[in-house]
Amino acid sequence: MSDPAVQVKPLAHDQIRALQWRGDRLRLLDQRKLPLAEEWIECRGAEEVAQAIRNLVVRGAPAIGIAAAWGVVLAAQRGDDLDKAIATLRATRPTAVNLMWALDRMRARADAGADAPALADEAQKIQDEDLAANRAMGAKGAALIEPGSAVLTHCNTGSLATAGFGTALGVIRAGVAQHRIAQVYAGETRPWLQGARLTMWELQRDGIPATLIADAAASHLLKEGRVRWVIVGADRIAANGDTANKIGTYQLAIAAKHHGVKFMVVAPSSTIDMAAPDGDAIEIELRDPAELLSHDGARTVVEGAQAWNPVFDVTPHALIDAIVTERGVIARPDADRMRAQFGSGGPR
Ligand code: MRU
Repeated sequence: MSDPAVQVKPLAHDQIRALQWRGDRLRLLDQRKLPLAEEWIECRGAEEVAQAIRNLVVRGAPAIGIAAAWGVVLAAQRGDDLDKAIATLRATRPTAVNLMWALDRMRARADAGADAPALADEAQKIQDEDLAANRAMGAKGAALIEPGSAVLTHCNTGSLATAGFGTALGVIRAGVAQHRIAQVYAGETRPWLQGARLTMWELQRDGIPATLIADAAASHLLKEGRVRWVIVGADRIAANGDTANKIGTYQLAIAAKHHGVKFMVVAPSSTIDMAAPDGDAIEIELRDPAELLSHDGARTVVEGAQAWNPVFDVTPHALIDAIVTERGVIARPDADRMRAQFGSGGPR
């Protein structure tokens, strides 16, 4: 039976909506400030949305796709050059394919003659479909987890990173509600601390007890034998199942394989890129080394030091036990199984 410590009120789940459309502006919960402050910023044009994506005010693959779609709507409302707006939004971050997918969808509607209200309908659809996909993935992913399991997650894949509920964190929310998950560990996710700052905040608001670990503690935790699944999101999944996600995911997958712990990737079909044959085709974002050399604006490393700051890595499909999308579960993914689910052209 379940641990009484994880009894949760079903309605306590999933109250956060970090992207809010207000008819002529996009409100974004500023993820740089959480959990110490809950501040919102308002974007009134595509350039402001692009800036918010670049600066990680809004982050997480599905969330940046949704924000970009609203950026196109703002450009259309103001009579701005849509080609330029789309190009600016597309250039903000290279790895999460949801961004390109959402912009391609908006571009197709614009090319078909959609005006600003019709583009707003499309952006709303993108947002609503993401929420529905997350709920579907939550159910499908949770069903794989044996009752009473402990799980480890990485980065933030929750309501903040999506339209709501989350991908990997959606599976965790559903798994806790069904008493399949008895304990949640979250890795800090250096250097930006998405796990420490955002995942811990989301889980605590939902009344889900979670235990924070240093990223470097993961192998030791897995060796202890209590964690049954590592559950992560994705920024882009190639045609053979190779998966780009937050830096540190790959080493978790290696450690999980070594210790006989299962590894689950949870992502909507908008994260699948069948045009990328494998992980080598995925561009990995390099961010400013300053993110590693200082903390909270204060320098922590000796002046003159160099740093290398790739913010995603690719987990080879052979290390993945299941990819969960809203369309179903692909067990032991490879090119054939991916093609069977998504066809050769894929969802894009
Ligand atoms: O740099 P970030 O915070 O945008 O990276 C986010 C991640 O890597 C997430 O795991 C991924 O986007 C999935 S979010 C549902």
